[in-house]
Amino acid sequence: MSLLGTVPDQRAIIQVEQLSQILITRLNKTIILDNVTYYVPQGSLFAITGPSGSGKSTLLNMMTGIDRPSSGRILFAGQELRTMRENALARWRGRHVGIVFQFFQLIPTLTALENVLLALELGGGGGEKRAKWRERALQCLDMAQVSSFANRLPGELSGGEQQRVAIARSLANDPPVIVADEPTGNLDSRTAHEVFETLTELTHHGKTVIYVTHDRALAAQASAGIQLLDGRIVNRSHAQATIDESSTKEATR
Ligand SMILES: Nc1ncnc2c1ncn2[C@@H]1O[C@H](COP(=O)(O)OP(=O)(O)OP(=O)(O)O)[C@@H](O)[C@H]1O
Ligand SMILES: [Mg+2]
Repeated sequence: MSLLGTVPDQRAIIQVEQLSQILITRLNKTIILDNVTYYVPQGSLFAITGPSGSGKSTLLNMMTGIDRPSSGRILFAGQELRTMRENALARWRGRHVGIVFQFFQLIPTLTALENVLLALELGGGGGEKRAKWRERALQCLDMAQVSSFANRLPGELSGGEQQRVAIARSLANDPPVIVADEPTGNLDSRTAHEVFETLTELTHHGKTVIYVTHDRALAAQASAGIQLLDGRIVNRSHAQATIDESSTKEATR
């Protein structure tokens, strides 16, 4: 594909092209994202950093198709998100993206194993037959180093352990990309680093991990990333623009 041909060193799993998000109300116009262009290399540990209000969560939600941009486009493994209808997008998300939240968001009445099984149920099993789902869920818990807590409820686990279960859940349908918005923001520093280690290990299993963090030490571990300020990219590492002429025309049309 010609677009990917312009990527200098590595294949892009996500390309973001001239993305803007502008909110217009009766009284004013707020630019939340301002012409943002970058790519996420496949298999990278990709950090999005920047001060509060700089647009990190907004950008993350657009990369997963949760929010739609005012202009610009996103190619995810070659597929253009804006062409998908809402239902198709939700199904697509279940198969392509695993999401890890700051506050874990596990179902409190379900055990760790059941939380992962529920994700399999909702996401269709990642190509695995139903008879294999339990085994698959246990494998996910194992990958996140919490298989010994399979039968515990979230309330019987520490914050770090709960976040590992949430990581296991994000892996359930075997998505190529894991997205995490401040995944360690609610953990003490030591636990944060341990849980982050688990996230980084996912890249060894071929996953691309995209994370938002305020922690400089965790940001420094990224293999690529961007820094935002007031909705603009002010710093980037191995995430340069990959626009060719045809896509520029397309995006500004
Ligand atoms: N639905 C909305 N309506 C109005 N303004 C919004 C909306 N969503 C986000 N914003 C504004 O857009 C800007 C970017 O918000 P965003 O949540 O992306 O920031 P962030 O970088 O994730 O911040 P934080 O580090 O605090 O999580 C903020 O100024 C926010 O107030
Ligand atoms: Mg945010």
